[in-house]
Amino acid sequence: MIEKLDELFVIFKEKLAPLSEQSDVLNLKAEYLGKKGPISDVLKSLKDATNEERKTIGSKANILKTEMQGLVNTKLQGIELATINKKLDENKIDISMRNSISVNDTNHGSFHPVNIIQREVEDIFISMGFEVLDGTHIEDEFHNFEALNIPGDHPARDMQDTFWFHDPHGPEEKKKLLRTHTSTIQVHGMTERKPPFKFIGPGKVFRCERTDASHEMVFHQLEGMLVGENISVSNLIYFMKTLLSEIFKKEVEVRLRPGFFPFVEPGFELDIKCLICGGKGCSVCKQVGWVELLPCGIVHPNVLKAGGIDPEQYNGFAFGLGLDRLVMMRYGIDDIRHLHGADLRFNSQFKDY
Ligand code: DAH
Repeated sequence: MIEKLDELFVIFKEKLAPLSEQSDVLNLKAEYLGKKGPISDVLKSLKDATNEERKTIGSKANILKTEMQGLVNTKLQGIELATINKKLDENKIDISMRNSISVNDTNHGSFHPVNIIQREVEDIFISMGFEVLDGTHIEDEFHNFEALNIPGDHPARDMQDTFWFHDPHGPEEKKKLLRTHTSTIQVHGMTERKPPFKFIGPGKVFRCERTDASHEMVFHQLEGMLVGENISVSNLIYFMKTLLSEIFKKEVEVRLRPGFFPFVEPGFELDIKCLICGGKGCSVCKQVGWVELLPCGIVHPNVLKAGGIDPEQYNGFAFGLGLDRLVMMRYGIDDIRHLHGADLRFNSQFKDY
């Protein structure tokens, strides 16, 4: 009987080994371990055996049953694992995409031309010892107008058509707006430091106005301010000329005209000879051959006071560089609207910079 059991076990193992389907394994299990299987037959036949035989054969049969059950379980786990691995192999994704795209096809990003110029200008000013400050797009009336010597009834407010935020529950004197110029950064910069100091503040500005080849509702300025003792117009001209010759990598023709801005006195408009048409006249320079690039001046005493600085002891200069015009001059772009057009054919031309 014992030999018969051993024989059964060997045959069972031989039959189990080649199976690879779950259903075949379960069938084999039912065949051998089920109620009508050979092991049960052996156990049933024990009713005529001696006590001693019953004991040894019975326990042997039970041991074999447990072993067979164990082998079946191991086999089923193996099949399950193989199925999962097969599925994983079939659905494999190469996240590196190395096999499908060659390196030369890779479409990598690039800096926007405004960012390129902004970084260059920042570097030039940093090399001259200026700090670079940041400011918020949403401002209040005080920082955008009042502190810059533009009170509520001042006609200069109309020069800058403003996007206002309407807060019906907010206090009237705390009205919020989208900053119309980066001169707001002057006000924060002054109140946060003691003279002497010099800083620039680049960023987007917003005007509620009609667009054309040289006007946009959103554009970029770079504000600059230097405050100390005995600062003069010649200091201002020196810094501006250094900046422009570094940017254009050549001497550019400039002219200084008187200009009115409430926050400077005297105020100037610094123009450069149009680099698009060479001074002949085009849509960018509005046919005059010159482009307004850099309004500037000596800081008005009221502005210094609003920034907590004693105008008897200190003075300084300020300027507001139009970054978009600079970009257009540098790359020969004849319409400012390209800069916010999000046209990849335009943007991708600046890849190499
Ligand atoms: N904030 C002026 C504007 O947006 C530009 C400007 C003019 C800034 C003269 C200055 C300045 O700092 O001195 O039109």
